This record gives sequence, structure tokens and C-alpha cells, in this order.
Amino acid sequence: MAAISYSNKYSLFSILIFITVVSSPVLAQLSVGFYGRTCPSVYDTVRAATRSVINREPRMGASLIRLFFHDCFVNGCDGGVLLDDTASTPGEKGRTGNINLLRGFEVIDNIKVQVDRACGRVVVSCADIVAIAARDSVVESGAHTLGQARCALFRDRIYNETNIDPSYRRSLQANCPRVSPNGDNNLAPLDEKSPNRFGNSYFQSLMNRRGLLHSDQVLFNGATTDSIVREYSNDPRAFLSDFSNSMLKMGNKLKF
Ligand SMILES: *[C@@H]1O[C@H](CO)[C@@H](O)[C@H](O)[C@H]1NC(C)=O
Repeated sequence: MAAISYSNKYSLFSILIFITVVSSPVLAQLSVGFYGRTCPSVYDTVRAATRSVINREPRMGASLIRLFFHDCFVNGCDGGVLLDDTASTPGEKGRTGNINLLRGFEVIDNIKVQVDRACGRVVVSCADIVAIAARDSVVESGAHTLGQARCALFRDRIYNETNIDPSYRRSLQANCPRVSPNGDNNLAPLDEKSPNRFGNSYFQSLMNRRGLLHSDQVLFNGATTDSIVREYSNDPRAFLSDFSNSMLKMGNKLKF
């Protein structure tokens, strides 16, 4: 993974390569085949569950990524963040810093139930589920930074929502008439500033209320994920370094 250079600009290409490498079966260190024999369906199960959760509640993508980082910052990636307090041992879940900060515990518990059912027995650890779900969340949420969206997908946002910059709204409305199906297929870039490159302009746009999709703008809407957006917006390298550091750190412990 060290061979990949993120020198000056994070091109969309490089982040896609990164994600591909992380999830690639040919990467020796993080062997995708780890559960290949014991429970090959784990990846599809986690992917489907993560996707459906994010579709239902888009902010959960960021929450799962965050949960993953918090788990890995305390004693390495051990799933300890998911532990409840017991009489003798306080679990990480109750620690200051984790309590009230982290959402997504229930989501992971729920995915674990589905995975155990799909595998027919308990074979995949909570830590691995957190890690796989976080990786899938990056893919699900990161995909929104590339390409274009159809007017039909953002019409409601530009005519009905208030957390949108007025001049941005006007420029989008010019190419997306209010009444469907007029202009349903007209396109607008998901990231107006750098449509072909993944960078922090995506996060800056969110802070300026210029996110095209409702599901993107909710990441910055006066709630818990605002601070993450702010952080990544100020520090273009933060996201990739957070993500890749954690991935590397757990490389020897977890096997994808
Ligand atoms: C906006 O909200 C109204 C009232 O809920 C709804 O009828 C309409 O379809 C929505 N979308 C647009 C583009 O006006």
C-alpha cells in the first residue's frame, strides 16, 4: 500500500485505487480470503446491510467510519468499543469520548446477527465487522463525490429544502424544472468545484450548503457529523490518512 502516492492532490483515481487495493483479493497483507473458507458470504452480508442502513439514514455512513476509528484508537482494533460495562470492568463503550459520541452500536450488533445467521455459526468477530462495515461505508459515501446526478434526484432538495445556498439553488433550478418529468434527466455535477477529483472541496461545499444531494448535505446540517466535515475540509489529507493509518495498523490483526 505504501507504493501508492498521495503526494499533492488526491485524485479520485487514487482514492478509488486505494479503496480497490484495500478490498483487493491480491493484497497479501490484508488477505480477503481470510473468511473465504469459513464464511465466504460475510462480505456480501455486511455490504448489503451497510448499504441498506446508509440508504435509510445517510449519516450512518460517517458514524460507522467514526466508530471504526474510535475502536482502533483504544488498544488497537479489537472491537472493545462495542463492549458494555460489566460490574468489574468498564467497557470502552462507556468511556468519556466514546459515550454519546458514537452512534452505530446497534447497527453493528444488528449486522453481527445477520452475519452469524448467514455463516451458520459465530465465526466473524465484532472488530472485523466494524472494519468491513467502515470500509463499505467509505465506498458508499465516497461514491457520491464522483460523477453527476439527475435532476429527478435533487429536485426536492432545490425546491423544498432550506439548508441550501440561494445562488447555488438558483443555478440548479435553471436546469431542473420544478414539475416532473420535465428535465428529469438533466445532469448536475455532484461536486461542482472538482467534478473529477476527490478532494476537500467536497467537504467545503457541504459547509457552504452547496451539497447537491440531500444525503450528502445531511452530513453537515447542525448535527454530530459537522465536526468531521469541518475537520476534513480544513485538512485535505485527514480523511485518507485516518483511513489508511487505521487500515495499516490493523493489517496484522485483521484479515480482510
Ligand atoms: C415539495 O413539497 C411539496 C409539499 O410537500 C410536494 O408536493 C412536492 O412534490 C415537493 N417537490 C417539489 C419539487 O416541489
